[in-house]
Amino acid sequence: MRANRYREYGEPNVLQVEDIEQPEPDRGEVVVAIEAAGVNPLDTKLRSGAYEWATPPMTPGADFAGVVTSVGPGVTDFAEDDRVFGTGLGIGRQGSCAEYVCASLEHVAQLPDNVSFEEGAALALVGVTSWEGMVEKAGLKAGDRCLVHGGSGGVGHVAVQVAKAAGASVTATASPQYHDQVEKLGADTVLDYSRDDLADAIASAGSPDVIMDHRINENIDLNTQVAAQGAQIVAISGTDIELSYSNSGMARGKMQTLHHFAMPQMSTFAPALERVATLAGNGQVSPVIERTYGLDEVAQAHEDVVEESFLGKLVVTP
Ligand SMILES: NC(=O)c1ccc[n+]([C@@H]2O[C@H](COP(=O)([O-])OP(=O)(O)OC[C@H]3O[C@@H](n4cnc5c(N)ncnc54)[C@H](OP(=O)(O)O)[C@@H]3O)[C@@H](O)[C@H]2O)c1
Repeated sequence: MRANRYREYGEPNVLQVEDIEQPEPDRGEVVVAIEAAGVNPLDTKLRSGAYEWATPPMTPGADFAGVVTSVGPGVTDFAEDDRVFGTGLGIGRQGSCAEYVCASLEHVAQLPDNVSFEEGAALALVGVTSWEGMVEKAGLKAGDRCLVHGGSGGVGHVAVQVAKAAGASVTATASPQYHDQVEKLGADTVLDYSRDDLADAIASAGSPDVIMDHRINENIDLNTQVAAQGAQIVAISGTDIELSYSNSGMARGKMQTLHHFAMPQMSTFAPALERVATLAGNGQVSPVIERTYGLDEVAQAHEDVVEESFLGKLVVTP
């Protein structure tokens, strides 16, 4: 089969298409013919060796959607020809930028018939992150106000929809060119993230009970300032050892909770994937696909996902 792989950590040009052996399922595994693979900033961090979590030779791609071609012993919930999607590959096991992939049951869920393969692949990682971070960890519920930083991003544009589906009212930040689209996705208020009076504008929209933050180092004090009493903050990126409150007294006074969330470290993705599948099947969450790439264009997709500004997701269709 064809797979796009890296044999050493490095820049996008380490990615090359190779012919490699098609995987066979072991106990508790399924093999999926890939129709679409999602592209995430995480894939580029793994490829560069920033985390040293994905030992080469490695096929990148956490997210996948496709059709089951074979199942291993002990698999009863999936059968040949099932439409499935999933996430969490490209770290311990080979990723989805290939014609076939082997996934264990923790990585996979059924894909509703009315959700396309491209949508499934675009949704998996960001949907799981949004659901698990905001609803499971931070307890987002109907009537809450949620603040989503970067509401046009891969995570952000799905987090807005997940928060809305949970019954929350949503304030999002985004560049002005995306405000109309982020509003159409369900945000009640959309604010330019670069405005000088951002804290006042967020507070006027209503103090958030839950905050989804992908730039926590920059926003930690802003979050503290605008958060409601007892707010839950989900930090998914930008966390480094310098992270500190300049006014920890205010954070304590508001009894804020900061959740450091790392989706790749979840022990299983399947329950969250099933919730995301239900939301997608109901039409409550629908990812925006900005562009698709061929299997020989994965290096370009890796460049674009970190260099370009766009609303939504990039997808590879092998
Ligand atoms: N911990 C986890 O489990 C987890 C899971 C998923 C993702 N992540 C991480 O979270 C980050 C975001 O992922 P993604 O897939 O959403 O990336 P993305 O698609 O590149 O989105 C990033 C978004 O941030 C916006 N942005 C840029 N500067 C900003 C600022 N100062 N304030 C607010 N927003 C700003 C961008 O808008 P413009 O283009 O308009 O500037 C863009 O919409 C990445 O670092 C990723 O690795 C972590």
